[in-house]
Amino acid sequence: MQILGLMGSSRRDGNTNDLLDAALRGASEAGAQVEKVLLPDYKLHHIYNCKDCKQRGACEEDDFPILRDKISAADGLIWASPLYWFTVSGLTKVLLDRLCCIMYLDTYEAFIEKMKGRLAATLCVMEETDFNKARHLLGTMEMVYEYCQWSNLGYVVGLGGSRGTILKHTDTLRQAYELGEKMAKINQTRRKP
Ligand SMILES: Cc1cc2nc3c(=O)[nH]c(=O)nc-3n(C[C@H](O)[C@H](O)[C@H](O)COP(=O)(O)O)c2cc1C
Repeated sequence: MQILGLMGSSRRDGNTNDLLDAALRGASEAGAQVEKVLLPDYKLHHIYNCKDCKQRGACEEDDFPILRDKISAADGLIWASPLYWFTVSGLTKVLLDRLCCIMYLDTYEAFIEKMKGRLAATLCVMEETDFNKARHLLGTMEMVYEYCQWSNLGYVVGLGGSRGTILKHTDTLRQAYELGEKMAKINQTRRKP
């Protein structure tokens, strides 16, 4: 079982990264092969809606094909994003938008066929203590999972802010650990694209 963590904060060593590490540790200790990608390390342009890929057979202008292949190879996806303006970070949103490139290369049906059957979970950190303000982020991710036909295993929201804040919240780290562990333990049989 391969689990891919997608770290969507601009700050590589921030709370989002720490929370994702806890989830991936849980997954790894439960026997999964884990990989973490830091989205700020990848060159991703906004979606152009060009559909040129249909002629060329690929969208090769940036690092999206690398991320697309990692997502394709994964059985489970852990999307970790800070709350930015009450929703996902721009880095996360650009990657979500670019998933449409897979659809434009082919058809909606082929896209779903390639995407479906994965497990998914969401991690979020935020500065305010009213976690209800993360509802749009969680709602967005829930709808993405539903659309892609990924099984939603749930979410963890934690307190961020300055670097290291989340590390003081051992309950939140434990919840993330258990979410990763739960994902790893699910014996998922899915059709590989
Ligand atoms: C552009 C931007 C927008 C933010 N918007 C919110 C917000 O709407 N609500 C909130 O509670 N915190 C907000 N924050 C605070 C971050 O969620 C918080 O600092 C978080 O820890 C950042 O993640 P990181 O530690 O992984 O970098 C915002 C921070 C930035 C930089």
